[in-house]
Amino acid sequence: MNAPKPLYEGKAKLIYPTDDPLVLRAYFKDDATAFNAQKKGSITDKGEINCTVSSYLFRHLESDGIATHWIDQPSPREMRVRAVKIVPLEVVVRNIAAGSLCQQTGIPLGTPLEEPLVDFYFKDDALGDPLLTRDRILLMKVATEEQIDQLKTLSLMVNKHLSAFFKTCDITLVDFKLEYGLDSDGQMLLADEISPDTCRLWDTLETDPERRVMDKDRFRKDLGSVEEAYRRVLARVMAHC
Ligand code: TMP
Ligand code: ASP
Repeated sequence: MNAPKPLYEGKAKLIYPTDDPLVLRAYFKDDATAFNAQKKGSITDKGEINCTVSSYLFRHLESDGIATHWIDQPSPREMRVRAVKIVPLEVVVRNIAAGSLCQQTGIPLGTPLEEPLVDFYFKDDALGDPLLTRDRILLMKVATEEQIDQLKTLSLMVNKHLSAFFKTCDITLVDFKLEYGLDSDGQMLLADEISPDTCRLWDTLETDPERRVMDKDRFRKDLGSVEEAYRRVLARVMAHC
């Protein structure tokens, strides 16, 4: 039998159709990219680790009443998800200054933010995923006023639940990126993945600014021991879910 053709190939995942038009299969790859795919590599077993971490976290959020696209994880690298039309926004929630926030504002790395900051980026590789304003989102008709408010409220709820959960794993949730989509009933579902690729996770038990990094910054900044860090996140998440 011929392998089914993917509907879509992203940088970290392949999306396949299933017999049910309302259900898709996401296959997690080991491919790793950074800086809008200017840096490319591979992280051994990343597909399995990210699929499993995401599955645990989506299930955890579902049990807290947050609607996600997650259905189940039929194999280590595969997740069955509800089909959604992705809203082309990347919603980033920040608890501690890091990454582009430091580069663009001069706020020193590691500064705790008084309130979580929610940033919206346009999901468009050709444009380099630019930071948007509320007015630009409305101008571009990427989302309505109500949807912007809904995405912010949902993302802050996710932040509350995930920050508390990661704390039990001795991990500080510094910041993370979420994506959402609308299902066939028009319901807004949390989609994509939540993993060491899409979060900044610092080991609460480490103070050294390099050793504490348990996420894709190890790949972005060539800090080494990338697989080990991803494995440690998986082990702690599994132990606490
Ligand atoms: P940033 O500091 O580079 O804006 O990243 C903020 C968070 O978003 C960080 O946890 C990493 C995540 N992220 C992605 O998941 N995908 C991306 O393409 C980028 C740029 C960041
Ligand atoms: N997703 C980004 C890319 O386009 C990488 C990153 O997470 O920094 O390569």
